[in-house]
Amino acid sequence: MVKVVILGQGYVGSIFALGVERIKNGDLGYYGVPLANELPIKIEEIEIVGSYDVDKSKIGRSLYEVVKLYWDNNIPESLKSIVVRKGIHLRSLKNLPIEAEGLEDEMTLSEVVEKLIEEWKDLKAEVFINVCTTEASVPFESKEELIKAIEENNKERLTATQVYTYAIAKYAKEVGGAAFVNAIPTLIANDPAFVELAKESNLVIFGDDGATGATPLTADILSHLAQRNRYVKDIAQFNIGGNTDFLALTDKERNKSKEFTKSSIVKDILGYDAPHYIKPTGFLEPLGDKKFIAMHIEYVSFNGAVDELMITGRINDSPALAGLLVDLARLGKLAIERREFGTVYPVNAFYMKNPGPKEMGNIPRIIAYEKMRVWAGLNPKWF
Ligand SMILES: NC(=O)c1ccc[n+]([C@@H]2O[C@H](COP(=O)([O-])OP(=O)(O)OC[C@H]3O[C@@H](n4cnc5c(N)ncnc54)[C@H](O)[C@@H]3O)[C@@H](O)[C@H]2O)c1
Repeated sequence: MVKVVILGQGYVGSIFALGVERIKNGDLGYYGVPLANELPIKIEEIEIVGSYDVDKSKIGRSLYEVVKLYWDNNIPESLKSIVVRKGIHLRSLKNLPIEAEGLEDEMTLSEVVEKLIEEWKDLKAEVFINVCTTEASVPFESKEELIKAIEENNKERLTATQVYTYAIAKYAKEVGGAAFVNAIPTLIANDPAFVELAKESNLVIFGDDGATGATPLTADILSHLAQRNRYVKDIAQFNIGGNTDFLALTDKERNKSKEFTKSSIVKDILGYDAPHYIKPTGFLEPLGDKKFIAMHIEYVSFNGAVDELMITGRINDSPALAGLLVDLARLGKLAIERREFGTVYPVNAFYMKNPGPKEMGNIPRIIAYEKMRVWAGLNPKWF
C-alpha cells in the first residue's frame, strides 16, 4: 500500500484522485503514466487517505463532491469516504476570487505543525503530494533560518509549502519515514535548507515543479539541436490557458517563480544562455484546462543556414501532471523503503522542470528517463 495525502484539492489533485480510483475499478488503462505498471509497487496499491485545501467552499466536503467540480460522470463512490480538511493558507489564494481560511488563523505555526502531525499519524500517511496554487516565495538556504522563522511565527516570511514541508519533515522523523512530492515551483528540492532537513529527518523530497506541457518538449528539442551542434539563436515559448492555475499566474510574483523553473532548461541543456521568452502568458477562460501552447526556435545550421521550428498544440494540462504523480507516489514509497533520504536527482531529472538539488541542472529527458528507470530497479529501455 502507498498511503497518499493530497495538498491542494484543485484540478490536478482531483484528476489524480479520479484516475487512480478509475484504474483500481478497471475503468481506465495506464496511458499517461510513464512507468505504467512496471514498478514492484502497483498503481492499484495507491490509497488516498487525506486531502487538504484552504478554499472555504471545499473544506469539509467529500473528495467525491470536489472531483465533481471538474468531472461529471461515473465518479467512483470510494471518493465519498475522504473529507477535505483545512490546511495552511499563508496568502496562497491572495488576490484570487476565492474565499480562503487556514489553520494559522487560530493558532501559531508551531501549533499548526503539531496539529497536522497528529492528523497524519491517524491517517498513517506516507507520501504527500503538493499541488497547491503556485506561490510567490523566497528560499531559505539555511536550515537555522527556516527553523527560526517557524519558531518566531513569522507568517510573512513563510509560504504554505515551506511550512507543509517543515511539518512533514518533523512527522517523518517521528514515524521513521515519509516522502514529499513538490509538483509546484516553490524551491524545496532546490533549497539546501530543506534538503539538509530532509536528510536528518527520514524525509524524501522530489521536486521542483512537475515537468509537463511545452517545457519538457522544448528541453528535448534543444538537446536534439545541441547534439547536432546547431546554434540556437532564440526561443519563444508561451502558454495560454483557462484554468485557475493560469488565473493565479496572471499575478506577477507567482509568474516569476514559474518563469524561473521553465527558463532553467536553456542554459542547462545548451551550455549558453540563448535569448528566450518562456513563460505562461495569459488567461483565457474558454480554453479551460486545454491550454494553447506555441513554440518558435531559430537556429544556425551548417554553412550558416538559419532554420526555424514552429510548434503549436492544445494540451490538457491537469491530466499531464496527474499521470506523473501516479509514478511519483510509488517512487516516493520506494525511496522510503530504501531509506534514500534527502532528494533523489534521477527521479527529479525526469519528472521535474527544475530538478533538485540546487547544484544539479536539467539534462535531456530522454537520458533522464533511462537513469530514472535504473534508479527504480528497472531495465533501461534503449541503452
Ligand atoms: N500540468 C499542470 O497542470 C501542472 C504542471 C506543473 C505544475 N503544476 C502546478 O500544480 C499546481 C496545481 O495546479 P491546478 O491546475 O490543480 O491548480 P488549481 O488552482 O485547480 O488547484 C490548486 C488547489 O490548491 C488549493 N490551495 C491553494 N493554496 C493551498 C494551501 N496553502 N493549502 C492547501 N490547498 C491550497 C486551491 O484552493 C485549489 O483547490 C499549481 O501550483 C501548478 O503550478 C501544474
